[in-house]
Amino acid sequence: MEKIACYQLLPLITFSLHIVFTYFFTPAHSSLDTFLYGGCSQIKYIPDSQYESNLNSLLTSLVNAATYSNYNKYTIMGSSRNDVVYGLYQCRADLAMPDCASCVARAVSQLGPLCSQTCGGAVQLEGCFVKYDNASFIGVEDKTVVMKKCGPSDGDNADDEMSRRDAMLGGLNGAGGAFRVGGSADVQGVAQCVGDLNMGQCQDCLTEAIRRLKTECGGAAFGDMFLAKCYARYSTSGAHAYARSNHGSSHSESEKTFAIIIGLLAGVGLLIIFLTFVSRMFRRNGK
Ligand SMILES: *[C@@H]1O[C@H](CO)[C@@H](O)[C@H](O)[C@H]1NC(C)=O
Repeated sequence: MEKIACYQLLPLITFSLHIVFTYFFTPAHSSLDTFLYGGCSQIKYIPDSQYESNLNSLLTSLVNAATYSNYNKYTIMGSSRNDVVYGLYQCRADLAMPDCASCVARAVSQLGPLCSQTCGGAVQLEGCFVKYDNASFIGVEDKTVVMKKCGPSDGDNADDEMSRRDAMLGGLNGAGGAFRVGGSADVQGVAQCVGDLNMGQCQDCLTEAIRRLKTECGGAAFGDMFLAKCYARYSTSGAHAYARSNHGSSHSESEKTFAIIIGLLAGVGLLIIFLTFVSRMFRRNGK
């Protein structure tokens, strides 16, 4: 009986391992976690200070909030005015919740080594943005260029594609809302504001980002224009595919958890087989 039970486990184990390998060794979330830029303030805080503990509560709050919302802001008050820390995160508005949460967690984990003991820091991954500082920046429009990247020249079909790019960007500028996508198969664009801006500030910021994108990335196959509180990006002919929402096409966190559990079960199964084998060896030797 015991022997049969063990052998019956084998197909299950093979199947489980297949799932584990498929899910763990295909980088389902890697595109959303791609690092785009980061920055830190010059001033450092004192280690083990109240500010440090407030900052840790802030970052924890951001990671937790990202499990149920695409945007949130927090202010952690200290006993002294000097210990106040402000922070927010913004996920790409079309991300599913587990993807937003894992992106923000990844961004926060990168802020630690990137901005070691600095009063302020920010990081933008493909799927999300996280920023904290001891000076209030929440609700403040900021059109500083923080990251600009223009692709190589679009080549032969440039004129035609650039006119469609300009039309698409014009559409994005007029679209309204804090998150905008546009274009067709060969010319795509995306634009987004951080959620603390009001409609007017957001439109003003995006108008500037789109204007710069058009003029500074003229003729480029793709372009990224990240201002401090908004961004606009475009891509032609699939030159630079943006991370899309993972609905249906990829693996969610819960599926990963499922894979981990199955993996553990497979491990236990292998252990049982091993132990059965060993005990049989001993019994044989005992005779
Ligand atoms: C931020 O912290 C630094 C260092 O403690 C301090 O010099 C600066 O005034 C603080 N800024 C604000 C807005 O509190």
